Amino acid sequence: MYPIWEVPNLSAGLILGIMSTFHILPSHLSVSSMWFNVYMETKAYRENKPELMEFVKKYTLLLLIFAYVFGSLSGVGIWYAATVTNPRGISGLIHNYVWGWATEWVFFIIEVVGIFVYYYTLNKIDRKTHLKIGWIFVIASWITMVVITGILAFMLTPGKWVETGNFFDGFFNKTYWPQLFMRTSLMFCIGAVYAIIAASRLKDDGTRRLAVRTASRWGVLGLVAGSIISLWYFKMLPDNSHTILEMVVPKGLKNGMIISVGIMMIYFMYAHIRPLTIKTVPAIIAVVILFVGIWSAERTREILRKPYVISSYMYSNQIISSDVKAKGVKADAAIINEKGILKVIPFVPEGLREVNESNLLHAGKIIALIECSQCHVLEDKGLRPLPQMAKKMGFKDIESAEGFLDALTGFPYMPPFHGTSLEKKALAAYLVSLSK
Ligand code: HEC
Repeated sequence: MYPIWEVPNLSAGLILGIMSTFHILPSHLSVSSMWFNVYMETKAYRENKPELMEFVKKYTLLLLIFAYVFGSLSGVGIWYAATVTNPRGISGLIHNYVWGWATEWVFFIIEVVGIFVYYYTLNKIDRKTHLKIGWIFVIASWITMVVITGILAFMLTPGKWVETGNFFDGFFNKTYWPQLFMRTSLMFCIGAVYAIIAASRLKDDGTRRLAVRTASRWGVLGLVAGSIISLWYFKMLPDNSHTILEMVVPKGLKNGMIISVGIMMIYFMYAHIRPLTIKTVPAIIAVVILFVGIWSAERTREILRKPYVISSYMYSNQIISSDVKAKGVKADAAIINEKGILKVIPFVPEGLREVNESNLLHAGKIIALIECSQCHVLEDKGLRPLPQMAKKMGFKDIESAEGFLDALTGFPYMPPFHGTSLEKKALAAYLVSLSK
């Protein structure tokens, strides 16, 4: 176990969420844009429209700067943030999927080199070779998505891995294929939004019209296919996730997804009908709407996993929920309930390892920090504030709060309480103090 990264009024999880949502914009752009470029480049050669290469150049430069500067920064940022937010979760993933990431990085390096080679050889080498470079980029970048989606889907539905500990049993799990095809479709919508920005900078009206129209068609197709495939994804979700979707996922997130898809659809259709009226600023505003949709979808995906960070294996608060015999991993409940959470966690302030009458409230707060703060900030405002939750329950005395903690085993969205009976009393006393 590691120290807790406490972010008052916000929560570490939300910082990670903001960073990951932002990262989708450059990463999915990178995976989709070259398909569009290769298509436009082929069209330019076949139909003898060299002016289209002007678009390809602008779009590639946008990709190079936006995706590879901000994408790299936010990508590395995710590693840092995830490592301090949930070190044990990341450790669990690395111990299973280090070769997955190694594979991804090989293809990522091809992408990074590929984008520079593609951009700087544009119009300088023979057409066939240049197109080949584009295709190599297309395939390498899509493989990065193929690999990362496996690890992301594993966290929600690890499948037979829990028994076998096998890399591929966890990787090709039941939400893998729908999630891969959903991301593959939606990335074309993300790519199209940026293509329209690049096209809006073109001087020649004819080229601009053609580029905006083509991009908006790709956008609509990606959006429609992605929406249909999302139904398949929801169908494959485990029962608990369906319960969570109904009970816990806020209305705001559900509306965020639907409204953003609706607005994007109208935007693409409008762009198709009146391509020349789309100027750069509105085209950039479309990215903001896209961000709202991605935020809602990614937050929902994270919430669907509750109460786990890796389903059937590790709770959000890093306590291991079940034995994974094939990996030699043992559940934590027995040892924590026997010795106490304040004893087994190395990073506990002096004088709090033993609970007594004089440190009851303080010990209770530390336990809340260790076991509850991943989903509840301890302040009055922020992510599901614990004081508000306690007031909602209206705990009158320690016994009723202890009763609530005992009942946590039956909650679909919260992990059970772990600790000795004295520690339970301390946390209960803290909850009572909050509800006053
Ligand atoms: C995995 C995330 C997670 C963890 C960890 C977690 N909770 Fe919750 N908790 C939730 C969610 C989600 C809700 C529902 C909030 C809502 O309705 O908006 C909730 C609601 C509550 C409520 C209000 C009752 C209810 O069901 O709506 C209380 C009280 C509460 N939590 C206390 C705790 C305590 C104490 C801990 C630590 C022992 C804890 N929670 C740990 C996710 C979590």
